[in-house]
Amino acid sequence: MTKLLVANWKMNKNGKECLEFIEAFKAKYSGKRVAWIAPQALFTKLVINSGIPSGLQNCSEHINGAFTGEISARTFKEMGGDFVILGHSERRQYFMETSKLLNAKVKTALKESLKVVYCVGETLPEREANQTLSIVGDQIHQGLNDMSEATSENLIVAYEPVWAIGTGKTASPAQAQEVHAFIRGELKKKFPTFGEKIQLLYGGSVKPDNVEELLGQKDIDGGLVGGASLKAQDFLALCGDK
Ligand code: PGA
Repeated sequence: MTKLLVANWKMNKNGKECLEFIEAFKAKYSGKRVAWIAPQALFTKLVINSGIPSGLQNCSEHINGAFTGEISARTFKEMGGDFVILGHSERRQYFMETSKLLNAKVKTALKESLKVVYCVGETLPEREANQTLSIVGDQIHQGLNDMSEATSENLIVAYEPVWAIGTGKTASPAQAQEVHAFIRGELKKKFPTFGEKIQLLYGGSVKPDNVEELLGQKDIDGGLVGGASLKAQDFLALCGDK
């Protein structure tokens, strides 16, 4: 399976910086690995225009109507968008998004033909209390409950240990692989016909100097990358293009 690298730019980069990145990235990108970019919502059109798959970092569970300030999956699809990241730990932590709410968002996005990168992961206290697998299992079962629209093409799951995000601390390849193997098993039970083929991304301080070892693990099919996706040169290195 071709590895997938998803850039999560969070609330970084102005329009000029987005365009500079796109130009530098496209000049050297070979397509050896698949690259997607989720800029700030306001700049998703710049990414769409570049031909690189473009994503939101969140969307509403509603399609349209009186929901001031929300972003519609349908409108994004209409403007040429490709995917949405849902359940990122910053959304769970700062915006009180629960797996139940995320379940509604995942369903809406899939119905509107967007691909979904659904994120799960434990905090440090949860890991230290040996709760990693039960927390991640709950996030999978609640967030992906009753998914009639899901397929192995439109649903991607990202494991991001919260203690590794933006901290410079990466899960060791063995720690990441252990959780990925568990997630793979849960997805196989949940989706017997295609669960095995769902792409699993690792996220949390993925960098050019640790990416190969992480992507070398049996159940790691790609990465969801924050900090190291902000510089074209680093993201190119993650995509296998030095
Ligand atoms: P990081 O962020 O690569 O900066 O750790 C990953 C993420 O938040 O998706």
